[in-house]
Amino acid sequence: MDKVLITGTTSGLGASLSRVYESNCSVHSISRNKPDHYYWDVHRDCDLANLNQVERAIKCACETNYYKYVFLNAGILGQLAESSNLDTPHYKAAFDINVWSNKIIIDELLKTKTVENIICISSGAASKGYYGWSIYCATKAAIKQLMSCYAIENPEVNFLSLAPGLVKTKMQNEIQQYDERDIPSVKKFKEAYETMQTPDECAKKIYKHLDSILEQKQDFFDLRNL
Ligand SMILES: NC(=O)c1ccc[n+]([C@@H]2O[C@H](COP(=O)([O-])OP(=O)(O)OC[C@H]3O[C@@H](n4cnc5c(N)ncnc54)[C@H](OP(=O)(O)O)[C@@H]3O)[C@@H](O)[C@H]2O)c1
Repeated sequence: MDKVLITGTTSGLGASLSRVYESNCSVHSISRNKPDHYYWDVHRDCDLANLNQVERAIKCACETNYYKYVFLNAGILGQLAESSNLDTPHYKAAFDINVWSNKIIIDELLKTKTVENIICISSGAASKGYYGWSIYCATKAAIKQLMSCYAIENPEVNFLSLAPGLVKTKMQNEIQQYDERDIPSVKKFKEAYETMQTPDECAKKIYKHLDSILEQKQDFFDLRNL
């Protein structure tokens, strides 16, 4: 049975990916909470903001497993505010979770040759800036470019940054808390909220189309282009 490793599985897209993949794969998770209902065969408790914990969790995972798919899914939005009102410490947690924890995981998977496909859940914000979104945009751009460099350096592994489109999750609820007079783009998210795909719908789409997307050997794919 193929093994799948997913980070950030306690809610949102990560929880739904776990549910969808457990139908015919062994799902292994790296996340910080273990809810009452879960879909994993193996769970490794890890705060991804704590990079020492990340290193221990992925070393342990790679000791005895080979992963067909690794989903680098966990991510945080970080504060939305004008960049000049944010200091570098505001960016640190988001860079640790959205970028450096993923780099640690990728490096161990490559060192131990224990992965076939690495899929990082990306965003349109990886390629486009928005007023007030510099923390999220900078981290998503950084991990997208890191993934592209890894892809060139390691042609034996498939690296894909996959933008899911808007998904009705905890992250979207966080965006809805902001006032559009402070962060203009929030208006668009509020208007779109009711019609956004659910995390289950998005996970099913990924499950159905992932292999054909991977065959295209692109380093970035937006699910809205299906
Ligand atoms: N929602 C969208 O519209 C959208 C659009 C484009 C891209 N994305 C991307 O999709 C991915 C999944 O996000 P989501 O929308 O499903 O949001 P979500 O519901 O907030 O899920 C984020 C996941 O990451 C985990 N996580 C956050 N910080 C963590 C930490 N320090 N240690 C361990 N786990 C941590 C969360 O765990 P806890 O439950 O413990 O916090 C949760 O399982 C993210 O990479 C996001 O950037 C989302």
